[in-house]
Amino acid sequence: MHILIKQETILRQVQEIGQRINGDYQNKNPVIIGVLKGSFMFLSDLLKAVDIPVEVDFVSVSSYNGKESSGEVELVQDISSDITDRDIIIVEDIIDTGRTLRFLLDRFSVSKPRSVAVCSLLNKQDDRQVDIHITYLGFNIPSVFVVGYGLDQSNKYRNLNFIGVANGK
Ligand code: IMP
Ligand code: MG
Repeated sequence: MHILIKQETILRQVQEIGQRINGDYQNKNPVIIGVLKGSFMFLSDLLKAVDIPVEVDFVSVSSYNGKESSGEVELVQDISSDITDRDIIIVEDIIDTGRTLRFLLDRFSVSKPRSVAVCSLLNKQDDRQVDIHITYLGFNIPSVFVVGYGLDQSNKYRNLNFIGVANGK
């Protein structure tokens, strides 16, 4: 395992994103939607930097990236909030092909939210297959498989306090 982004660098950037959200959503009450499981650690640190009133919800999706890279996305658990006429911020760990986010944007748009923003800790621009606008981004990274700070490889390494690249990858 080697470190790609160390903890203090992550936390500094997360703090900055939180402050931008505070400024952009003054006098608003956005619904912050964490995409499980990968976003849990980012969301937790981000929310500590947010000091405007927010509501928090979660959506759980799984994608079959493993074998054939079919790009199929499946909803595992939906949000429980009514997002009609609400400002929503979707919080992701990483945007790779963009298919997961495209699926969520299409799904949430049916409920007619007032506004939709996308916040992602990481972005692999080189792997993008569908066009996505990221409102708040932590870091652009190269096309390598990363783990830690919520991200997993076969459900391991989510607890690491840094973003790392597993050996042999
Ligand atoms: P998508 O390709 O943009 O749809 O990303 C699908 C999902 O794959 C992301 O939300 C992550 O959960 C996962 N993923 C993509 N790249 C990585 C990585 O480098 N490490 C761990 N998970 C990843
Ligand atoms: Mg994810």
